[in-house]
Amino acid sequence: MQEKTKRMWAGLTFTGVKVFTGISNALGLPVISTGRPFSFYREVFFGQRGESEVLEDLADKRVLDIGCGLTPFTPDSMFQACYAAGVEFYGVDPKLDGTFEFGRFDRVKVAFNRGHGLDPNAPGEERRLAIYADDLPFEGASVDLILSSWALFVWIDDPQILTSVFHEAVRVLKPSGEMKIYPTPNIDAIESALPNEILNRFEIRQVFLGRMSALNLPPAYRTTFRIVKNSP
Ligand SMILES: C[S@@+](CC[C@H](N)C(=O)[O-])C[C@H]1O[C@@H](n2cnc3c(N)ncnc32)[C@H](O)[C@@H]1O
Repeated sequence: MQEKTKRMWAGLTFTGVKVFTGISNALGLPVISTGRPFSFYREVFFGQRGESEVLEDLADKRVLDIGCGLTPFTPDSMFQACYAAGVEFYGVDPKLDGTFEFGRFDRVKVAFNRGHGLDPNAPGEERRLAIYADDLPFEGASVDLILSSWALFVWIDDPQILTSVFHEAVRVLKPSGEMKIYPTPNIDAIESALPNEILNRFEIRQVFLGRMSALNLPPAYRTTFRIVKNSP
């Protein structure tokens, strides 16, 4: 597919999402949170690599999932797989403060995203951080990888909030640590949302993903931000 066509599809996806989030905000509805299986994370963040291969790779690493939603309560999630394998994986979301309802609608959202149910008593409470991503309880240069699915640039799109989240990411990521985000718009939209002082800290790569046929995997980019400079 030509670059121009990829941009067009990603643009359409983002226009659709913006219309949806705009209506949702206008109606005063809360941000929709859902849960996703490890297979989704492997597809969008790890190029379809096998579960054990990904877990082995992350064995001695610290990983954060920003705006994780209900994912830590999904039994077949990456959060739960990492917890069981002893990988230091944290879910970061202010909604983890215990206000989730785990109602029928939440279960429908998880099923729509191909997750297998929700377990309010799922293990790993100490790895569920009920906080905003711009104030992380980790020391500088101590995080290897940050993932973010359906949160940054989609629901969290205020340039000021995005900038403070990226400032915090720059602080906590190790030299050559990475932040992988899906879905994102193309690089032009990213460059206009973030200041140069942030952009200059990263090497930025984009891969076009998505299937026209899958509502939960619409055409858009996965963007990887790799730290090249930790301090100014
Ligand atoms: C649409 S949900 C995405 C949930 C999940 N990651 C997924 O892929 O389905 C967006 C999440 O971002 C969370 N969120 C909003 N602002 C945030 C912030 N500043 N820091 C961390 N999470 C935030 C919301 O509470 C919400 O659960």
